[in-house]
Amino acid sequence: MNETNTELREGLAAAAVLLGKARHVVVFTGAGISAESGIPTFRDPLTGLWARYDPETLETPRAFREDAALVWGWYLWRRMKVAQALPNAAHKTIATLGTTQREVTVITQNIDDLHERAGSSDVIHLHGSLDIPKCFACHRIPTDESWNTDIAAEGVRVEPPRCERCKGKLRPGIVWFGEDLPSRAWKRALATAKSCDLLLSIGTSGLVYPAAEIPREALRNGASVIHINPAPVTQLGVNEYAIAGTAGQCMPLLASLAGV
Ligand code: OAD
Repeated sequence: MNETNTELREGLAAAAVLLGKARHVVVFTGAGISAESGIPTFRDPLTGLWARYDPETLETPRAFREDAALVWGWYLWRRMKVAQALPNAAHKTIATLGTTQREVTVITQNIDDLHERAGSSDVIHLHGSLDIPKCFACHRIPTDESWNTDIAAEGVRVEPPRCERCKGKLRPGIVWFGEDLPSRAWKRALATAKSCDLLLSIGTSGLVYPAAEIPREALRNGASVIHINPAPVTQLGVNEYAIAGTAGQCMPLLASLAGV
């Protein structure tokens, strides 16, 4: 066994003790948890979406005003990628955790539905969802699925459908840069982070606020926080631990070591 494996095993064993004892677990996830399902992250240097695209031209209200067809086509392409993907071992393990003797709440920054498809029932989406578009003008959510069209390939421009009430353009129901988080989801996420005794932070760079406050909130209220990420997580505080591995590799091992 090499040094890295030993370190990983020791980290997992220590984390398993915390998971075994925890009564209320929050699982806070970012794009990295869906990477092993084939969905690109944002900030990984070679494979992340922001290495190939400029978020300013795709994920702001201004971008939509200037080129709605570009933004809507990009959104349909991402939706197609998610539809083709399957939940991986990490999503499945988290869903299994939720069926054990502990309360488990998933707070995700992801706009995919892989937690739900894996079987998690309590999922708070902080950044919206690919499945619920809304009108850019009046914010109404469409009542039918006629907006839901397939797209041939990446980079195709598609005129957004119109709102059935005000004829405004439909936009993706996701939180763009500069926009507020959905207030009910945010309030519930904060309350849940305050009351948990363990928070697993999986596959997030922790760079986007206010979502990145969630693990901090848990720590401030006495919970332990375990980061699972193949990239180094630095400046760990008291009660904060890091496991250097992928979500799909670590989560099943962690659950099995904790006996859940
Ligand atoms: P990022 O792309 O910023 O970070 C992804 C993290 O996942 C990085 O720290 C990677 O090291 C890690 N990672 C990569 N592969 C992994 C794997 N197999 N297992 C575990 N971790 C892995 O994504 P987020 O932190 O989710 O906002 O980004 C936050 C927000 O920024 C997103 O919700 C999105 C984006 O702009 C909106 O869409 C509103």
